[in-house]
Amino acid sequence: MYRTHNCGVLNLSNRGEKVILSGWVHKSRDLGGMTFIDLRDRYGKTQLVFNMETNPELCSKARKLGREYVIRAEGMVVERSNKNPNMPTGDIEIIVESLDVLNKSQLPPFTIEDDTDGGDELRMKYRYLDLRREPVKHNIIHRHRVAQETRKYLDSQGFIEIETPVLIKSTPEGARDFVVPSRVHPGSFYALPQSPQIFKQLLMISGFDKYFQIVRCFRDEDLRADRQPEFTQIDCEMSFVERDDVLDAFEGLAVYLFKAIKNYDIKESFPRITYDQAVSEYGTDKPDIRFGMKIGDITGKVKGSGFNVFDNSEYTGGIVATGCAAYSRKDLDGMTDFVKRPQIGAGGLVYVKYNEDGSFKSSVDKFFSPEDLKGLTDLMDARPGDLILILSGERTQTLYALSELRLEMGDRLGLRDKEQFKPLWIVDFPLLEWDDETQRYYAMHHPFTSPKTEDLHMLESDPGKVRANSYDLVINGVEIGGGSIRIHDAEIQKKMLRVLGFTDEEANSQFGFLMNAFRYGAPPHGGIAFGFDRWVALFAGSETIRDFIAFPKNNAGRDVMIDSPSKISDDQLNELNLQLIRKGI
Ligand code: AMO
Repeated sequence: MYRTHNCGVLNLSNRGEKVILSGWVHKSRDLGGMTFIDLRDRYGKTQLVFNMETNPELCSKARKLGREYVIRAEGMVVERSNKNPNMPTGDIEIIVESLDVLNKSQLPPFTIEDDTDGGDELRMKYRYLDLRREPVKHNIIHRHRVAQETRKYLDSQGFIEIETPVLIKSTPEGARDFVVPSRVHPGSFYALPQSPQIFKQLLMISGFDKYFQIVRCFRDEDLRADRQPEFTQIDCEMSFVERDDVLDAFEGLAVYLFKAIKNYDIKESFPRITYDQAVSEYGTDKPDIRFGMKIGDITGKVKGSGFNVFDNSEYTGGIVATGCAAYSRKDLDGMTDFVKRPQIGAGGLVYVKYNEDGSFKSSVDKFFSPEDLKGLTDLMDARPGDLILILSGERTQTLYALSELRLEMGDRLGLRDKEQFKPLWIVDFPLLEWDDETQRYYAMHHPFTSPKTEDLHMLESDPGKVRANSYDLVINGVEIGGGSIRIHDAEIQKKMLRVLGFTDEEANSQFGFLMNAFRYGAPPHGGIAFGFDRWVALFAGSETIRDFIAFPKNNAGRDVMIDSPSKISDDQLNELNLQLIRKGI
């Protein structure tokens, strides 16, 4: 027998019991005639004691154990004289009577401690050791909890979990596909799903009514802290629903998860604002509404002052930083450098200080009288003591820069409280996005998203104006999920694909099966998919989803532990009928 108990359960109530424990040597200390070992397993740590005087042979054996050796120890639970209140097992220790080494360990390449000396790359190479560390283990268990609670809730609401295939044909979600060559069908390829979008729609046509799946998705796209090439979605679809039915159903899931996972109550229903409103008030379709500081459009107010930048810009907007009028030159230079960073791209920053005494000081004093500035501060609802930060330029770019500046000010002013969660729905996204480079429209969400009924008439005449019946769930500035009411009519789907530049032939060869299915009684339907990794990370107050994935890829999309992607042999290439164009790569 390897164990009677695990390393996290024993306490004073077990005093006097004979127990067997197995686990890893976490740490060992020799103090005078005694040796102490912290034995660790998934459940915790328990202190083992060896006494040189009473059992010299066993104690010498214990002194030879290295870190991460796997051992089995048998002994008696006794009360500790030197208790450790920080450990659940800190009131007791085990006087060891027999000890077996189950397996030795080489010295680990980094310490298996909460704060390790191992760098990122090293920890990824030895991820199986990294996963032994308490905070990483904790993240993985936390992920498990979120998955279980999600299943529990959706099951209770009548959703059925159905698996969909992984070797499929391309589904356009806006990224590149990962493809898998077929051996049996030379020259043909499977694509890995960017999402199970088409399958879940087909399941609605099959009558399953309420579907979900916690499912792996694959997208070949540039990686960021919140993006992995393979990631997990909570993918959902419902039949006979309108937009608000879907939003209500999944608001229910969000409220449930916040309570179950964080014991966090969300009492108010989630605000629902349009894409246009989100962009004009927050500069982004993922607003963090834990704080106000909305963007004010002051284009009309500042044009014609003689200040070149304002006069010639399509758009000028600003935010009010409450209580920041006393910002120093250095602070303002810092903010200017921030907005001029290439990834933010503003040309410069204009400030107006509304001093406590009611006077003004601005970087554009030459062009604006104090009365002008008073008018401006009134328009922006600023008070004495506030600072207005203004950016000017092309509308979309300037709003983006303002959104970043707003978040930066939110951070500086401590307004983005990690313990607070503010979800909202963004609705009515544009259906299409124009791409100058390829001179064509792309679906902003995906090609199966339904236009809003009232905009349908413009689909062919003025496609850029059409709004989609789509929605995103945003929490604290993170896009947690997105979905839409779908097209369920073959003719409208055909039209949509035409607007996206597909010839009828291309549409048929790629999506003919779907349009065909629409002809066999497709019910009205809609759904949503949540970024499971993002949600898990958000609950834990982190932005890095990698920390919550057992075996993630690094920023270059590599798994450095198994060394993937990697070359395949010439035999494999031959078998697949593939040839590398450039030899030797
Ligand atoms: P969408 O493309 O918006 O919608 O994806 C849904 C959610 O998945 C998460 N997500 C990602 N998470 C980690 N790494 C990535 N590379 C990544 N890409 C997306 C985001 C996002 O909100 N089929 C539609 C859903 C639908 O219409 O029902 C879809 O996949 O949190």
